[in-house]
Amino acid sequence: MPRFYLTTAIDYVNSRPHLGTAYEKITADVIARYQRLSGVDTHFVMGNDEHSQNVFRRARELGLEPLAYCDRMEQEFRDVWGALDLSFDDFIRTTQPRHRAAVQVMVSRIAAAGDLYQADYEGWYCVGCEAFKQEKDLVDGLCAIHRTRPDWITERNHFFRLSAYRERLLTHFADHPEFLQPEVRRNEILRLLESGLEDISISRAGQSWGIPLPTDPGSVVYVWFDALINYASAVGLGTDAAQFENWWPADLHVVGKDITRFHSVIWPAMLMSAGLPLPRQVFGHGWVHLRGEKMSKSLGTVVDPLDAAQRFGTDALRLYLTKEIPYGADGDFSDERFEERYNSDLANNLGNLVNRVTAMGVRYRHGRLAPGGSPSRLQTLAETTLRDYRAAMTSLGLHQGVASVFRLLDATNEYLAERAPWTMAKDPAQAAALDEVLFTSAESLRLCTVLLAPVMPRAAQAILARLGDRTPLADRRLATEGLWRTDGARVVESGDAIWPRANSRPADTGMVLLDQGAAPVAVVRSDGVSDVHDDVPGSTPATTAGPAASADATSSTIVIDDFARVELKVGTVLHAEPVPKSKKLLKLTVQDGPASNRTILAGIADSYVPEALIGRSIVFIANLEPRPMMGSVSHGMVLAADTDGKAQLLGFETPPAPGTRVR
Ligand code: MSP
Repeated sequence: MPRFYLTTAIDYVNSRPHLGTAYEKITADVIARYQRLSGVDTHFVMGNDEHSQNVFRRARELGLEPLAYCDRMEQEFRDVWGALDLSFDDFIRTTQPRHRAAVQVMVSRIAAAGDLYQADYEGWYCVGCEAFKQEKDLVDGLCAIHRTRPDWITERNHFFRLSAYRERLLTHFADHPEFLQPEVRRNEILRLLESGLEDISISRAGQSWGIPLPTDPGSVVYVWFDALINYASAVGLGTDAAQFENWWPADLHVVGKDITRFHSVIWPAMLMSAGLPLPRQVFGHGWVHLRGEKMSKSLGTVVDPLDAAQRFGTDALRLYLTKEIPYGADGDFSDERFEERYNSDLANNLGNLVNRVTAMGVRYRHGRLAPGGSPSRLQTLAETTLRDYRAAMTSLGLHQGVASVFRLLDATNEYLAERAPWTMAKDPAQAAALDEVLFTSAESLRLCTVLLAPVMPRAAQAILARLGDRTPLADRRLATEGLWRTDGARVVESGDAIWPRANSRPADTGMVLLDQGAAPVAVVRSDGVSDVHDDVPGSTPATTAGPAASADATSSTIVIDDFARVELKVGTVLHAEPVPKSKKLLKLTVQDGPASNRTILAGIADSYVPEALIGRSIVFIANLEPRPMMGSVSHGMVLAADTDGKAQLLGFETPPAPGTRVR
């Protein structure tokens, strides 16, 4: 069975995880889950980097022993990672005995290779970076990253002959173009290698917090030299030869672009010196910014990943980070953008599709969808999607992989709109066609959900359960589940909306909908008045009553003030149901503002099935006097175009928030 050993950077524990560090872990988790789904034996390791001076200082500030502090932080990290559904198989800490053992092995091997020597070190050291700095790296005497004055240190240090590995590293880069990705990082590091390498200090004198150097117990191993070794200690270097044999070398180290140099220059040189194989690939992802600014703890501009996940759920956050940020490049996060994408991708697209497919399945076929149907355009697209998805995910184009699935979701929504199963359902002669549409859309939805499972594991499981498939995620395999299936009856269940639309934008965005100069393609009617009379016992049949009639006849003009008295607003249909004993009315629950709903009865039952309306934006008259109809009270009127007696609801390309005024 193929195997895949995947790691992330291990985190400093002087503060809690933030959205930037979480981004790395989430995207690595997507990769790990994709590998498992592909049937690859996967070992995914994360962990904490504990021997940093900042960690030591933070513990002291809190009056704690450093190790006790690290124990506490481990729990905090595990809690956050658990809430983000990270599926790591092991969690390494650099204070663990297994790690100490591996550090001893590495340092001894590197010493035995003749690559360590002692010399006096004098220079700058930035504790924030945990890195030695050269004068040229400073800006006005300050660390360019932390904007703090580095410490001047003068001490006897142990040095690693990094410079001796320049040629071998260059050769390795040339022979293995895939070793460092994306290309932009590879080019950066190649330039660095070409400009020459200096030996590096690998010890700190007179410090107590760290792993003592085997050859000089008065010094501890420099935190980076210590930390990089975690990737080997986690799979048994120095403690479990069989495990090490099984998993080393790592297939992929996922790290941030700021620390790519440590992973693609220093770490491979250490391994070369120790006579161990190099990892197959290092991927240097980009940074997540907050509204275009760097996230900074000191400026208070960090986002708590749990706060972000709580807004729309962990899956929504995972999707945003994977889909919206091209993997390898920098990306941005803002509450507004997150909400926009949530509404567009989940509430309106995937969530709406789940509701429609399952609700129609239940309504028209009692939840049992018969297999079959001729190969459709959707099936052909699904096959292309699967190919694109696999190619993108394997080459770490995670955003492209997800985008390909969303193209299939869009096409499925379009397919439903075109085939209009709600119309077929009214004609018994179209029963076979209806079966085909229901089965085909359910199959397409199933396939998309399987492909999205690495990104949205919880939602995927919930959606697949509504499509009648309760196989645990761990048992699912792309080789079988990633294929378009034409057999096997499906049992679908309807349920609550998985992702209700969110609205926190200001209600009045000044949307201009009705352009007086535009030639109407169909007459805009208000659905409620003229068309419902024949449903209301004792009412007079509508012939000329209502705004539709007067608009149609252009019988009189009105002044702008007349129009201004009509309050038109955008609403979102949350729920729709037939009205008993009425052929024309549907009862809609419409979200009409950030946190309010109203009931509107609309005479559109001959044009829309209730399921097709859920999640849809509409325009309605908001200040109409409430009106009792068929045992309910309608609080408004929905606007629709009157096309050959059929209502066609007014809509938007990008739906504005409910409550938005239409003028
Ligand atoms: N402890 C070192 C890594 C040692 S690995 C042998 C370290 N820790 S860190 O806590 O500062 O960062 C952990 C990871 O999070 C790094 O890969 C870093 O690049 C990444 N990120 C930190 N802030 C980030 C963003 N704002 N955006 C994306 N990733 C970011 O470095």
